[in-house]
Amino acid sequence: MKTLVTYSTLTGNTKKVAEAVFEAVSGEKEIMDIKSIKETDGYDRILVGYWVDKGDANEEAKKFMETLKNKKVGTFGTLGAYPDSEHAQKCVEKISEALKANGNTVVAEFICQGAIDPKIIETMRKMGSNGPHAPTPEREARWAEAAKHPNEADFSAAKDVFGKLD
Ligand SMILES: Cc1cc2nc3c(=O)[nH]c(=O)nc-3n(C[C@H](O)[C@H](O)[C@H](O)COP(=O)(O)O)c2cc1C
Repeated sequence: MKTLVTYSTLTGNTKKVAEAVFEAVSGEKEIMDIKSIKETDGYDRILVGYWVDKGDANEEAKKFMETLKNKKVGTFGTLGAYPDSEHAQKCVEKISEALKANGNTVVAEFICQGAIDPKIIETMRKMGSNGPHAPTPEREARWAEAAKHPNEADFSAAKDVFGKLD
């Protein structure tokens, strides 16, 4: 069983989770930034890391996942929202459904919070109370919590999920 762990990342959160996933996976394995992938034929299993962008996998990860057909695929993601939120669960489902539609088998799923780029938070604060991401106390609390992730508990949870694969 040869596994490829790959990831797309803007600010490093998803790369950190990818490294935890890589550590946990058994058998022959490689880890690679999505940008470096030339072909996927030599792998029995592909574990793809994405970050959530507007409620879906970020474009680069999405494009890559669209190239996968009839493979064993696992996904792991990071996002600003809480992982047990409806928003997070919808993202995970959407991504898995798209993979399944191309004949892939989804062997594992994982999602956790990841610090939001402070520049983005500043922009949302500047947009003020009329913007779609108005800085309410609830949002500020969520952003502050996200800033602490991914943390050791997230890495450990990811390792549990991916370490269980054959
Ligand atoms: C342009 C942009 C769009 C985002 N959209 C969402 C979103 O729709 N939902 C969400 O929960 N988080 C969203 N986030 C937060 C990121 O998914 C989160 O911070 C993630 O951990 C970033 O991963 P990275 O460090 O690997 O790039 C967004 C961040 C950016 C920069």
